[in-house]
Amino acid sequence: MKVLVTGGAGYIGSHAVLELLNIGHDVVVIDNLCNSSLESLKRVELLAKKTIAFYQVDICDGDKISDVLAKHPDISATMHFAALKAVGESTQIPLKYYQNNVHGTVTLLEALQKAKIANFVFSSSATVYGEDAPAPYIETLKTGVPSSAYGKSKLMIEQVLSDLVKSDSSFKVVCLRYFNPIGAHESGRIGEDPNGIPNNLMPFVAQVAVGKRDKLFIFGNDYPTNDGTCERDYLHVVDLAHGHVKALEWLDKQSGGICEAFNLGTGNPLSVLEMVNKFSQVTGVNIPYEYAPKREGDLAAFWANADKAKIELNWTANKSLEDMMRDTWYWQLNNPDGYTNKK
Ligand SMILES: NC(=O)c1ccc[n+]([C@@H]2O[C@H](COP(=O)([O-])OP(=O)(O)OC[C@H]3O[C@@H](n4cnc5c(N)ncnc54)[C@H](O)[C@@H]3O)[C@@H](O)[C@H]2O)c1
Repeated sequence: MKVLVTGGAGYIGSHAVLELLNIGHDVVVIDNLCNSSLESLKRVELLAKKTIAFYQVDICDGDKISDVLAKHPDISATMHFAALKAVGESTQIPLKYYQNNVHGTVTLLEALQKAKIANFVFSSSATVYGEDAPAPYIETLKTGVPSSAYGKSKLMIEQVLSDLVKSDSSFKVVCLRYFNPIGAHESGRIGEDPNGIPNNLMPFVAQVAVGKRDKLFIFGNDYPTNDGTCERDYLHVVDLAHGHVKALEWLDKQSGGICEAFNLGTGNPLSVLEMVNKFSQVTGVNIPYEYAPKREGDLAAFWANADKAKIELNWTANKSLEDMMRDTWYWQLNNPDGYTNKK
């Protein structure tokens, strides 16, 4: 099968591209490289010993997307990763997030509809459950109101997709609601390469470990959790990539007009302190830390009920917490400056 992957040069997309190539699919990537480097895809090609058709195209540019689709009339499915994803930034420049994520997705969908490419896997997020949902989050819960423009953009796209399949029964859609992806490919060749100060815990921990930052700031220590720090459901990015392949296989067996959401997580909440201690235990590197005030909008704890993905997609997160820590560290150690330091 030939798969269109938007945002395929990014962190999760590059791991999904590798997974697709490894099981024999062909891949066409479109990415505007606003938060990634072509180096990731060069490395994926080396790892997979296969080539990727890459186009530097913005998902807001419908004509250019259609040109790409015309060059590859055998594309039969899409994995849609392309988005802006910084939660904090999205509250400062919300219009940019709605423009890029929502308008971009609508533009992409118009081009796909014209080209009759109906199978669609969307990178959604646990944030669509909103602030008041009881954990563990399960797909039967109603979606809530995400606190950030980023989260709202994900919810809006889910709603757009749901309306689309109701109006065009050829479309088949899966919304994958990710929990907290971390780690890197075990080769240490591809991984997460954040711009500036990392927003997420593990890239920050890894940068402290490699000496790029003095210490970790832990935001809040009086949450109603076992040790007072926030709890999240961390899953390995390679497991997440595998979940996308499972979703594609599932879509292939469905008849049209469906839009189905699945949680992808481990089902195990872990606190910030547990994560920091585990990282030190696995890598032997001490992580100095300091408590800082809570960040607005951070929830105390949430994790997935991932039974639906297990039962229907035949997917579970197989990698251990040790794997996540070891692979995070191996990536950071080999690429202290991310893709700019091309070892
Ligand atoms: N990383 C997480 O913790 C997380 C959690 C839940 C959901 N998600 C979603 O998963 C997807 C991938 O996330 P990621 O962590 O790999 O992010 P990333 O920033 O590494 O990858 C996104 C890619 O999309 C590209 N892109 C952005 N806007 C584009 C546009 N208008 N046109 C073309 N390309 C564009 C970027 O250049 C980048 O390569 C995103 O949709 C994100 O919202 C991520």
